[in-house]
Amino acid sequence: MGVSRACPDRRLTVAMAILAVTIAGMFAGGHSYSRPKARRNIFVRHIKANSEDNSPEQVHISLLGKESMKVSWITESEAPATVEYGTSAGVYNRSSTGTTSSYRYMIYRSGQIHEAVMGPLEANTNYHYRLSSDPSRDFTFKTPPAEFPIKFAVVGDFGQTEWTKSTLEHVSRSKYDVLLLPGDLSYANYIQPRWDTFGRLVEPLASQRPWMVTQGNHEVEAIPVLHSERFTAYNARWRMPFEESGSDSNLYYSFDVAGVHVIMLGSYTDFDPGYMEPKKAISIFREASFGHGQLEVPNATHARWLWHRNDNDEAVVADSVWLTSLSSNPRCKN
Ligand SMILES: *[C@@H]1O[C@H](CO)[C@@H](O)[C@H](O)[C@H]1NC(C)=O
Ligand SMILES: *[C@@H]1O[C@H](CO)[C@@H](O)[C@H](O)[C@H]1NC(C)=O
Repeated sequence: MGVSRACPDRRLTVAMAILAVTIAGMFAGGHSYSRPKARRNIFVRHIKANSEDNSPEQVHISLLGKESMKVSWITESEAPATVEYGTSAGVYNRSSTGTTSSYRYMIYRSGQIHEAVMGPLEANTNYHYRLSSDPSRDFTFKTPPAEFPIKFAVVGDFGQTEWTKSTLEHVSRSKYDVLLLPGDLSYANYIQPRWDTFGRLVEPLASQRPWMVTQGNHEVEAIPVLHSERFTAYNARWRMPFEESGSDSNLYYSFDVAGVHVIMLGSYTDFDPGYMEPKKAISIFREASFGHGQLEVPNATHARWLWHRNDNDEAVVADSVWLTSLSSNPRCKN
């Protein structure tokens, strides 16, 4: 857990991964719930205008410090790692060029993975952008507010099934500022093209609001002898701002947004020699439902957690709880 000191500083510290799973079901006891059956996988294709089309795909953005946004996208073949952006549609009067990489995983070879940084940006502002000088696709995003209140959407164990699609629709309607995904993104499970289909599935949301993610066991994807490196696809495709928080690994980091300090700890971090096992003992109640969480932080001392269960495509608030910061506890004042 991120809250380790008895009396932390004034910022509200949010310990993501474990908190999310734990609080979700804490007060939902008293009735039994059976999770509905799994739904089929979906495979989102890249729609090309013609065979020459090298247009950007799998676009997602993430926060980089307080005033910048990093954009990541993929093209099939070589293209400039350039983002052009501005505050009015069609007027991209600022630009920057970043870096391009790719990776191999046995016989699979990824597309060209580009990253570029936009900033400094105004808070709470809509921006338009286009990528690799491609005029066929215009993207938009909104920056988070500079101060409270702020609203996070929280999803985990995501995958790419009909359930994922339905949950994405609920998340999209929730008017969130930043999405937190504490592990198990694509469920590619070694099949690398499934990372591409996942990138396309989440693009409509992930290109519009910052998505801050960390990893779980499904991101490891190491195979003895054949591919010994761990987290290859995750690290190449979902590079988070870990250096900015003093972390030396993309597997764990922290960031500040609108007065909230968020600690992202994946459950398969490599800072122990070995894995950090999730502490099962702290779960008072568990409900294996599909759905998404919302974490609303109105001010420095209060936060509200809501669990929206996905009940046959309806988002139903199954649980909610107020959290108060330890720093607002009178015993911490001296
Ligand atoms: C870009 O255009 C906007 C108006 O759309 C203007 O306010 C801004 O100053 C321009 N920025 C630059 C760098 O020219
Ligand atoms: C913070 O928000 C909570 C919940 O809305 C409210 O009860 C509390 O008075 C607020 N605190 C301050 C200092 O505004």
